[in-house]
Amino acid sequence: MSEVKSYIDNNQQRFLDELIEFLRIPSVSADSKFKNEVLRSARFLEDAFKKAGVDLVEICPTAGHPIVYAEKIISAHAPTVLVYGHYDVQPADPYELWESPPFEPVIKNDRIYARGSCDDKGQLYMHIKALEILNQQGTLPCNLKFIVEGEEEVGSDNLENFVKENATRLKSDVVLISDTSIIANDTPSITVGLRGLSYVEVEVTGPNRDLHSGVYGGAVANPINVLCEMISSLIDDHGRITIPGIYDKVQELTTEERANIAEIPFDLNSYQEEIGIADVQGEEGFTTIERTGIRPTLDVNGIWGGYAGEGAKTVLPSKAYAKISMRLVPHQDDEEVTRLFTEHFTSIAPKSVTVNVTPKHGGKPAVTPTDSVAYQAASKAFEQAWDKIPIPTRDGGSIPIVALFSEVLAVNTVLMGFGLDSDAIHSPNESYGIFNYLKGIETIVLFHHQFAALSK
Ligand code: BES
Ligand code: MN
Ligand code: MN
Repeated sequence: MSEVKSYIDNNQQRFLDELIEFLRIPSVSADSKFKNEVLRSARFLEDAFKKAGVDLVEICPTAGHPIVYAEKIISAHAPTVLVYGHYDVQPADPYELWESPPFEPVIKNDRIYARGSCDDKGQLYMHIKALEILNQQGTLPCNLKFIVEGEEEVGSDNLENFVKENATRLKSDVVLISDTSIIANDTPSITVGLRGLSYVEVEVTGPNRDLHSGVYGGAVANPINVLCEMISSLIDDHGRITIPGIYDKVQELTTEERANIAEIPFDLNSYQEEIGIADVQGEEGFTTIERTGIRPTLDVNGIWGGYAGEGAKTVLPSKAYAKISMRLVPHQDDEEVTRLFTEHFTSIAPKSVTVNVTPKHGGKPAVTPTDSVAYQAASKAFEQAWDKIPIPTRDGGSIPIVALFSEVLAVNTVLMGFGLDSDAIHSPNESYGIFNYLKGIETIVLFHHQFAALSK
């Protein structure tokens, strides 16, 4: 057995115990009630970085939640890897659907169940343990820098400024991120594309007050009815978004690229079964993998208004609301899409209501090269640890910082994630496989060795 593997074997229980401590801290960035817990999480990281042997670690305050920066510099001549991750997590709601409490981690069926176990505390912590191993074994082959934010799940509002202000300090040869998924544990993959995001909130206002739905119903526009109609007109019978201009900049893939996507192992039946649906849907002419990987989409994330409490209240509400997200692909621009949405949504509103659109957050799509030294290093690391050459894939989720790193720091990213789609990130009962956690640590150690060797 390699020395790396035996180190992981001998320390497996402690590696799990430490992650479990980290997961106990409810670092929900979206909810101000958890503000202190988010800070506690940053302090936990500070301590973990110190124990793993960094030269320097700092909790950097921002206008929102702090950013944790750490580094271990071995030589001015060695290549530098900048690791990015996030220590904030999604809200755990609805709590009643969790089989065990979200912030009281349990191990069941070789998986760690807790909010953040996969996204992204578990995947981030692998990097700290990889650093520990390289340090303990005296084999660290490159400089390591870490930037860990506490606002990824709420749009990374303060990260752009931080990166711009600290561009010199963050100088590196590659950004390494574990915050994505692989196809399956017997089919490793490397993410080479992420979708962008335009997220808006809409408000539809009808009468100036809530009305009796019998006295006024039928004569006065009901903002919830109107909102539903407006939303359903946003996607046509072919599954295409109807907003004028939204497809103008979409990069169409070549026949060859699409043939490569068609080669990716994918079982529609188990996909459907796993999430409990009898059929899929989406844009005509595209496969399920293409629909989430290379096509723009529009989804309502939440819709409310009127009376939703116990019993019945006969009311024709004054207002209706919805949160709508659009996932974007190269070369769409999130700000432009938000503008196109706003113009279109306002234009389709009947005279009986007024409409307000508020942009919430956005992010640019990203594609990462496969012909870079860093990709080759990641590919070799996977091959060594998993005995298979990883397949390049495009994921449907978004990590807006990837485009920013390439713009501001002029550096490429490698997305070496180890989650599975079935880990239920953002859902109740999120979990992370112990296999993925430990294998991930090993693969990251191998990446650093490969990257240093190939950079020479
Ligand atoms: N780690 C995810 C993104 C992800 C998940 C990418 C799975 C690929 C595969 C990240 O934490 C996330 O949830 N991002 C948000 C972005 C938003 C809040 C700006 C998203 O995709 O909704
Ligand atoms: Mn994440
Ligand atoms: Mn997330």
